[in-house]
Amino acid sequence: MNDDIPVARRQPTQAGRKQGLGFSWRLWLRLGLGLLLLGILSWVGWGLWELWDSSKMVDPVAVEAPIQSIFPLPQPTLQDSRVSLLGHFAYAEAPLDSLQAVGSYHGREIHLRQAAAESYRRMNEAAQAAGIRLVPISGFRSIADQEFLFFQLAQSRALRPEERAAVSAPPGYSEHHTGYAIDIGDAGFPQFDTKEEFETTPAFRWLESHAARFGFELSFPRGNPQGVSYEPWHWRFVGDRDSLETFYTR
Ligand code: DAL
Ligand code: ZN
Repeated sequence: MNDDIPVARRQPTQAGRKQGLGFSWRLWLRLGLGLLLLGILSWVGWGLWELWDSSKMVDPVAVEAPIQSIFPLPQPTLQDSRVSLLGHFAYAEAPLDSLQAVGSYHGREIHLRQAAAESYRRMNEAAQAAGIRLVPISGFRSIADQEFLFFQLAQSRALRPEERAAVSAPPGYSEHHTGYAIDIGDAGFPQFDTKEEFETTPAFRWLESHAARFGFELSFPRGNPQGVSYEPWHWRFVGDRDSLETFYTR
C-alpha cells in the first residue's frame, strides 16, 4: 500500500521525527562552532596585519608628521625684543630673485643674496691669490630645506630639540634663510667640512684675518651668547645696511 503514496507525502514516523531533530541540533552546533572559529581566525589575522603594517612605519625619518610629534618644539619667546626659539632668532626667507650662485658643492649650486655674493666672490679671489682655496658648502636655505635638516637629522641622530638646536637652527630661525650666511670649507681638507677641525685649516686662519675686510664675520664663535655650538665654518655677511640690520636690529 505504502508503495502507492509518493515519498514526499508519507507521514514521518516518531523515530523519523526524532532522527530529524537530532540531525538539526548537531548541524546548528557545528555551524555555531564554525562561525566562532572563523571569528577567532579573522581576529588573529587582523591583529597580525596591524602588527606588520605598523612595523613598516617605524622609520619616521621618512615621514614628517610623526617626527614633529615625537620632537615637539617649544613656543618661541621674545629675547631682546626679537622672536627667539632655542637660542636662534626668527629670519625671513630672502626673495628668490635676490639670489646669485657663488659656486657648487657636490653638484648643488650654492646661492647668496646679491651683495653677499659679490663680496664673497671678491673674497674668494683674494684668498686664491694668497694660495687659499675656499669651498662654499651651504648658502641660502629655504625654511623647507631647514625643516628637513632639523627634523630628519634630529630624528636620525636621536637628538632632542634642545640638543639639535645647539648645532642646527629650527626651521624659520636659521641665518641661512636670509641669504647672507655661508658655510665655508677648505678644498685641501674636505674631511673637515662643517667640523670643528676646520679651525686648523689654512682657509680658516686666512678668513680669521681677512673676512672682515669683505664684510663677513663668524656667527657662532666659542662661547657665543646664543648658546649655539662653535661653528668655525659658518660666516655671515654684515657688509651693507640690510644685512647689518637683519642680524643686529630685527
Ligand atoms: N648651523 C646653524 C646654526 C644653522 O643651522 O643655521
Ligand atoms: Zn651654517
